[in-house]
Amino acid sequence: MSTEGTRELLGSLRAVFRRIASATDIDQLLDAVVEAVRDVVPCEAATVLLLDASGETLIVRASSDGAAQLGERLRRDAEPDEGTLRLPLASGASTLGAIDVKLSGGVLSEERGEALRILADQAASAIERAELYANLQHFTEQLMSADEEQRRRLARDLHDGIAPILVSAYQHLQLLYANTPPEQRAGRLEKSVQHLRKAIQETRGLIAGLRPATLDDLGLAGALSAEAQEMAKDAGWELATEVDDPGALSLEAEATIFRVLHEALENVKTHAAAQRVRFVLRSSDDDLLAVVADDGRGFLTTDWLQAGARTGHFGLLGMRERISLLGGECRITSRPGAGTEIRVRVPLKRIRG
Ligand SMILES: Nc1ncnc2c1ncn2[C@@H]1O[C@H](COP(=O)(O)OP(=O)(O)OP(=O)(O)O)[C@@H](O)[C@H]1O
Ligand SMILES: [Mg+2]
Repeated sequence: MSTEGTRELLGSLRAVFRRIASATDIDQLLDAVVEAVRDVVPCEAATVLLLDASGETLIVRASSDGAAQLGERLRRDAEPDEGTLRLPLASGASTLGAIDVKLSGGVLSEERGEALRILADQAASAIERAELYANLQHFTEQLMSADEEQRRRLARDLHDGIAPILVSAYQHLQLLYANTPPEQRAGRLEKSVQHLRKAIQETRGLIAGLRPATLDDLGLAGALSAEAQEMAKDAGWELATEVDDPGALSLEAEATIFRVLHEALENVKTHAAAQRVRFVLRSSDDDLLAVVADDGRGFLTTDWLQAGARTGHFGLLGMRERISLLGGECRITSRPGAGTEIRVRVPLKRIRG
């Protein structure tokens, strides 16, 4: 490629990064990614596919000029069409999805191939950030109980403590991609990591500081049993419980598990129209196990990730996210007409207090 061509490519990459960085919600961001691909390489179509919660299915989330149907599902391991280049969207260790680029004939130059890979990396971190931000927003809303003072404190801490640190880390990373010469990159990376580490410490502090008052009074098993019984009374469920005190857990883990199971019970109350509900909390040698199962109307689990991200329902997404941060897994099994089961398993060695 000529120097002129390279300069032009760098110019359009820079414009593309600016557009990706300024997208305000996830749909806008994905549309910006599609547009960006088209600016960087000559192609007939570009499509962004994101993995659903199961990690097995790719869902079309944005596409140029109706090249693919939004919401269309493909198996993760399905081969792309002939002449279509599939770029993985990966951030750190996690794979988020892929960008399919239908090339308009000819061979892709090395420079443009490299530019596409840089673009995909940039897009992946922006998508991950947008999803985390949306989760954080939902999480914040959940924490905002009726307690006005707590609400104000949380808003202030998030605003003054966490937001500027995350923004600053983000800007450092952005600078890395734009004009920074390679020899300065190590310093900037280190700074970003320091900022992010500080943000994590602040978040942990906040979570511990905001734990629900009933946890202090009744402990995890007591607080959750009380919740389940109260909801059963309100909603008229026949409740079967199997609850053992799991012993001392870290404050953070206790609060997280409480919120996840509270959300599961809240969902049964709000959505299931259930008659019978089973609530289990017990520990085996290695794991803490919890189950919330109902015989209510059930739902299509394949829809919830997509619906969640689009419509602002983050309950189920937040549950999985929080349990995976504790090193555990949260399985959601449901079918229309056949009830719902939420099964949580967390290794005790990660959460012992
Ligand atoms: N136990 C359940 N029984 C039937 N449907 C359920 C159940 N749990 C979840 N759902 C369905 O899954 C959808 C997503 O649940 P999720 O908790 O993510 O969001 P939400 O409860 O609608 O909103 P929020 O963000 O306030 O939690 C619900 O809107 C509902 O349709
Ligand atoms: Mg919910």
